[in-house]
Amino acid sequence: MKKREIIRLLNITKQYKTDVVTTHVLNGISFRVNKNDFIAIIGPSGSGKSTLMNIIGLLDSTTSGKYFLNGIDTSKFGEDELAELRNKTIGFVFQSFNLLPRATTLENVILPSIYAGVSRTQRLKKATEILKTLGLGDRLNNRPNQLSGGQQQRVAIARALMNDPELILADEPTGNLDTKSGQDVMKILKNLNRQGKTIILITHEAEIAKHAKIIVRITDGKILKN
Ligand SMILES: Nc1ncnc2c1ncn2[C@@H]1O[C@H](COP(=O)(O)OP(=O)(O)OP(=O)(O)O)[C@@H](O)[C@H]1O
Ligand SMILES: [Mg+2]
Repeated sequence: MKKREIIRLLNITKQYKTDVVTTHVLNGISFRVNKNDFIAIIGPSGSGKSTLMNIIGLLDSTTSGKYFLNGIDTSKFGEDELAELRNKTIGFVFQSFNLLPRATTLENVILPSIYAGVSRTQRLKKATEILKTLGLGDRLNNRPNQLSGGQQQRVAIARALMNDPELILADEPTGNLDTKSGQDVMKILKNLNRQGKTIILITHEAEIAKHAKIIVRITDGKILKN
């Protein structure tokens, strides 16, 4: 059976310009991601991994090149349409968790669904279910500073899952975690992949990358052939 393509990048470049210098961060990146792939993008610090992830996540624009998401040329979209597409298609997990410090576990998780037109009761029910599957059923009303790093990252994963995204982008999700919690996070990502989610994982650790089905190496803003 032909695999369905979810992402196609064609010769993507990204430069940051100031009056005096131009930094060439991505220098012609092309690759394709199919539905239900689990890809690790690995490369040294400063190689352009997060820049690439921000582009794939529709959080940043390209300097040149084409980005097709589910066959749609993303350059055709305005800010509002991009935000909507991002909200319903992509779940993000970051190294630093990015939870709201004053909000409880449940409040953090229901946040992205506030704009999705679902009632608060429904959202709370769904968030509770997701949190239970991630082993956080007894931490629903705690604030982030009352949770361990591993627990906070699981809250962030639950938040990423709230809108049923088909794609999960995780930028160094284990970077701030001890080995055990990091392994737990990788197990969760593998499980989600088994359930059909497409996952792009960014890491600079070979040990973490080997959990993925495909490894893409990036150096100086270019992909090295495997
Ligand atoms: N907004 C910006 N303005 C100027 N330069 C930037 C900007 N964002 C990133 N850069 C530069 O782009 C390069 C790539 O950064 P990026 O964050 O993508 O690297 P990375 O591979 O994610 O590194 P790390 O493993 O340390 O997270 C770096 O040299 C960085 O300084
Ligand atoms: Mg980075």
